[in-house]
Amino acid sequence: MTIRPLVIAPDERLNIASTKVEVVDDSIRTLLNDMLETMYANDGIGLAAVQIGVHKRCVVVDVAVRDGGKEPMKFINPEIVKNSEAESVFAEGCLSFPDQYSDVVRPETVTVRYLDENGAEKTIEASGILATCLQHEIDHTNGIVFVDHISKMKRDIILRKLKKAKRFGLIEELPTHPTV
Ligand code: NI
Repeated sequence: MTIRPLVIAPDERLNIASTKVEVVDDSIRTLLNDMLETMYANDGIGLAAVQIGVHKRCVVVDVAVRDGGKEPMKFINPEIVKNSEAESVFAEGCLSFPDQYSDVVRPETVTVRYLDENGAEKTIEASGILATCLQHEIDHTNGIVFVDHISKMKRDIILRKLKKAKRFGLIEELPTHPTV
């Protein structure tokens, strides 16, 4: 497994929708493993392939690491097939937006259909932080980032900070909260 460099905002690659995985083969399994290693190395709880510059619809998640556990989950071509009317708010961060957090409102519960690493079709119903995380990562596969859900004013502040941090080479710091 290899830790791959993260794509940090502002970066146009984050706004490009990823393509569907047609064949689940060893290259996809390697990609998913590299994504997990990259996510763990950066103290994240979720990562989409686009965040390492690969535009394939692949997502990894581990919400158990917040409590010191380890429960890696891999999703290929994940899509939301159902969501609740009830909403929840979570202060989201993102490995592509180091140290930037903002409240985002999303459906509280989602049902996600995906392929596992053997190419078998699966469905998962998620609530709580897993639901938030899956929606955040599926957004990534569609070229959408969490700041697209907040006001333009807040988004501009965050993007300006990151632009400045990148220019001055200050982006190396690891995030201090669980980030997706
Ligand atoms: Ni993210």
